[in-house]
Amino acid sequence: MATVDLMAHTHHAPDDASHSDAHHHHAHSPHPHGTLGHEQPDAGSMATLLDLDAAVTGHYLDDVAGRIEALVTRPTRVIDLGSGTGTGTLALARRFPTAQIVALDNSTELLERVATAASRDGIDDRVRTVTADLDHALPAEVIDVDIAWASSTMHHFADPGALLSSTFAAMRPGGVLAVVEIDELPTFLPADTAEGEVERRLRASANARHWNAHPDWSSTITDAGFELVDTIDVVTHIDNPPHAARDYAALWIGRARNGLADEITDDDRTVLDRLLGDGPTSVSARDDLVVDARRVAWLARRPA
Ligand SMILES: C[S@@+](CC[C@H](N)C(=O)[O-])C[C@H]1O[C@@H](n2cnc3c(N)ncnc32)[C@H](O)[C@@H]1O
Repeated sequence: MATVDLMAHTHHAPDDASHSDAHHHHAHSPHPHGTLGHEQPDAGSMATLLDLDAAVTGHYLDDVAGRIEALVTRPTRVIDLGSGTGTGTLALARRFPTAQIVALDNSTELLERVATAASRDGIDDRVRTVTADLDHALPAEVIDVDIAWASSTMHHFADPGALLSSTFAAMRPGGVLAVVEIDELPTFLPADTAEGEVERRLRASANARHWNAHPDWSSTITDAGFELVDTIDVVTHIDNPPHAARDYAALWIGRARNGLADEITDDDRTVLDRLLGDGPTSVSARDDLVVDARRVAWLARRPA
């Protein structure tokens, strides 16, 4: 069975199927990831999705950064593994004013956005971007790390175990690792509406298809030498979400509609098309949107 990943940009099949333990309520498959949708999003549309994601569900950045803060004292070096547009980079820079943050990604286009955002926020002296392929290891120049952050990225890398081992080696004793993954297809309509029911059917299909499959990273993390501190369910529920939620909802619903096209009934497709259209009941016009999303975060430490 193919797995699907709505946030796919570039993909690699995991070499090692041993980390495919079931996690939470849906089982994950060791099979290669595929995209939910026929085309890989280009860097521009990926950037739009990532920025909307932070604008709407960005509280998770502060939630998890707050948990990290309780574990480290005056960090000076933070790395963001697969930074994308830098939503995590910037949140960490805000949270840790004593730190230099290194954003690593294999997309120079996305890293340029990180640099632009850092100068916009007046913190370009503390944010550095490094183009790097993280499939197997960190670049050797990365050393003395106090905090390593990997959000919605770990499942992209070809050999997450090797990357985590090299992260461990680059980390100072007492340093903290945070791995975050999106857990479920988010929904945007109230559960008690016909549209909300369609969305929940989509989510069930996506789960059954191992959408955004990620293993329980616990054993990969501890195998690399880290001590697991906590696993956190990060639940998002937003009534009256910001305006950006309309575009964000349209993006997700559109991708799910295309990616799961072969499973959607004609009736459900009609509902989805109405949500994606420009009529009064479309997501861009309605004012009853409610965002429900879930992430999971693993916090670990290199023993002091
Ligand atoms: C879903 S995005 C997550 C971005 C960001 N961490 C966030 O949460 O907004 C995945 C990121 O991983 C990067 N990526 C994927 N494979 C990579 C690789 N082999 N080496 C470095 N970066 C990679 C992509 O370019 C993309 O920016």
